Amino acid sequence: MHVFITGGSGLIGSATVAELLGHGHSVLALARSDAAAKAIEAAGAEPHRGDLADLDALRAGAARADGLIHLAFGHDFTSPDAIARAIAEENRALEALGDALIGSGRPLVTVSGTPQVPGRPSTERDPLPTDGPMAGRSRSVAAVLALASRGVRSSAVRMPRTVHSQGGGGFAGMLTQIARRTRVSGYPGDGTQRWPAVHARDAAVLLRLALERAEPGTSWHAVADEGDAVRDIATVVGRRLGLPVKAVPQETYGPLGPVFAADQPSSSTHTRATLGWQPTHPSLLSDLENLQP
Ligand SMILES: NC(=O)c1ccc[n+]([C@@H]2O[C@H](COP(=O)([O-])OP(=O)(O)OC[C@H]3O[C@@H](n4cnc5c(N)ncnc54)[C@H](OP(=O)(O)O)[C@@H]3O)[C@@H](O)[C@H]2O)c1
Repeated sequence: MHVFITGGSGLIGSATVAELLGHGHSVLALARSDAAAKAIEAAGAEPHRGDLADLDALRAGAARADGLIHLAFGHDFTSPDAIARAIAEENRALEALGDALIGSGRPLVTVSGTPQVPGRPSTERDPLPTDGPMAGRSRSVAAVLALASRGVRSSAVRMPRTVHSQGGGGFAGMLTQIARRTRVSGYPGDGTQRWPAVHARDAAVLLRLALERAEPGTSWHAVADEGDAVRDIATVVGRRLGLPVKAVPQETYGPLGPVFAADQPSSSTHTRATLGWQPTHPSLLSDLENLQP
């Protein structure tokens, strides 16, 4: 397949570009800067200049492709307004990408986070949140999945809180960045809340499988570790960076504070059984051992 990907220069995207190229696909990747274009070219893919706000560039990329993977997202979590802007930008971009595929039967794979269900690991059947800071993303995903009835083989791969590589990425990566800045490896609440995780290379395999085989309108969980206690994550971060490990106020994490404090394990039993996905790369707690002071 000739695949158009957004976010191909990011943590998950670069692993996905490598996974696609390694399985006989060719890749056209959105690049919003010279640096991203260079990285994409070095990876063996073709850069396609433009950004998420450039809907003509998105339509042109989609027109050249047999299938699409959408991963780009502006990760400015500093204020509710910044999050809302990124969600609105993604929403318009996904609308343009989806419209370009209507009636074609071509696949469109998008991403979201795994849902949170009190008292048990969430499954692929649970709905995405309709309130909270990221609820707008759930609406974008629902709109993409609804395109299944309009001739698009749309699917969503739900990512766990931490998609990691070389000790960095996702929520655990944010804990690490804050620890470096504040000189304390903190965690919100009592630290027993659990976050699921996956290695970026395993997530990339699932994105490829969804592109190749997902039935229209389906959702999948890229969950390798069902849930690590956040205190255990902070403990490895603190040991690797030589910093004290302590409970800190939820406000330390800005608008994402309530999300950081919530227990949100997640399962991928259905995904593994149906798509034959089997994660093989290191767990989050092992990968964090790559952190350097
Ligand atoms: N990592 C995780 O733990 C995790 C967990 C749950 C969900 N997700 C979701 O998975 C997706 C990929 O995440 P990631 O960790 O790979 O993110 P990342 O490393 O921050 O990469 C983001 C990618 O999006 C691109 N991008 C951002 N804003 C853009 C814009 N306005 N126009 C064009 N490109 C833009 C970036 O391009 P540049 O290279 O030019 O910056 C980069 O390629 C995101 O939707 C993210 O929310 C990730």
